[in-house]
Amino acid sequence: MIISALKSSVDTDSRSPIHIDTISTLLNLGADVFFEENIGIGINVSDKIFEQSGLKKSSREECLKKGDLIITNQPLGDDELKLIKPNSTILGMINPFSNQALIESCSNLKINLVSMEFIPRITRAQKMDVLSSQANLAGYVAVIESAKHLSTALPMMMTAAGTLKPAKVFVIGVGVAGLQAIATAKRLGARVEAFDTRDVVEEQVNSLGAKFVKIDLGETGETDQGYAKELTEEQITKQKELQSKVCERSDIVITTAQLFGRPAPLLVDNKTIDRMMPGSVIFDMAVESGGNVEGSEVDKVVERNGVKIIGISNLASKVSNHASLALSNNYNNWISDFFDKENLSISFDFDDEIISSSVLVHNGEIKNERFKK
Ligand code: NAI
Repeated sequence: MIISALKSSVDTDSRSPIHIDTISTLLNLGADVFFEENIGIGINVSDKIFEQSGLKKSSREECLKKGDLIITNQPLGDDELKLIKPNSTILGMINPFSNQALIESCSNLKINLVSMEFIPRITRAQKMDVLSSQANLAGYVAVIESAKHLSTALPMMMTAAGTLKPAKVFVIGVGVAGLQAIATAKRLGARVEAFDTRDVVEEQVNSLGAKFVKIDLGETGETDQGYAKELTEEQITKQKELQSKVCERSDIVITTAQLFGRPAPLLVDNKTIDRMMPGSVIFDMAVESGGNVEGSEVDKVVERNGVKIIGISNLASKVSNHASLALSNNYNNWISDFFDKENLSISFDFDDEIISSSVLVHNGEIKNERFKK
């Protein structure tokens, strides 16, 4: 079996789907591992180092043509799909909600397609959960990047030259990214408040030493996969009104609110921004999926009345080495769990919840109801 690993095709993404510290897992399966030249450029690992570990360097075209299993951090284009052999499998982050055409092409070309975004949220699958592994690092990066734009330090400092007050940080949305943002801001000495529509997270916020902001929105709740349910328009209006007081007193507001498969809710509008202190920072972690903050733009710092609104794509890529280590472990864990050692192939057992959830196309059939026409 040939496993091919593709280099990132997006300038803002420096992550690699393979990592030198985790590659032995794939080699130990008995597979031949090919990699696209320069795959490790964003994590400071040369082709030579990968070759010394037993991997084979190849062009992107050859990787696509040869691979029985192709690992990628991005969706592939139609021209690329045409190079892939029928019955091969693509495994990676393919952003399925924005790539219906890719799903249909894979079905027509009989290429199996595994979306790592659809790993179910069950304990057994945590080691494969790319959304969590990357959101965790993204939460860390959001705090570091916000701190860079602030003209004050985060911790309290009692010095001979006076007492410097700690920064106040408000985190809206306390999933994986939000929890890491809280933990990072706390470690840097900030005073942290946080809010989420899922009230089960109050205890987690408190356990990190932050304060949970109580906003009564009536019935909210979460899906059976642990995702937030969409709020009604009235609930969103109420949330915006009540949380704007917290934004007003914060130096940094970090928004992480997402809804799986749907655009992110707009939670901080111009009315709120205009009440905030000049010099304060809003970091919109949802900027790529529609944005939580009015006026935020992908890969830009926008200023409104002295408030900086930051939007950065591929946040985890800012710590590309750790992000690649975690990602490659996620991929390797999926491959190892479903690898048939006797036949050196992937065993697609649709009675397994992880397979039935993450495999979108198999043997030309679109398996996931959401993507059937
Ligand atoms: P996410 O990225 O979809 O959303 C981020 C956060 O925004 C969520 O906590 C959500 O409740 C919140 N949110 C949505 N609308 C909001 C609003 N209007 N105002 C404020 N907050 C809002 O969520 P993520 O981080 O992927 O995970 C959510 C939860 O899923 C986790 O806290 C955890 O409980 C669960 N989970 C379970 C896993 C497992 O069992 N394998 C793995 C990862 C997460």
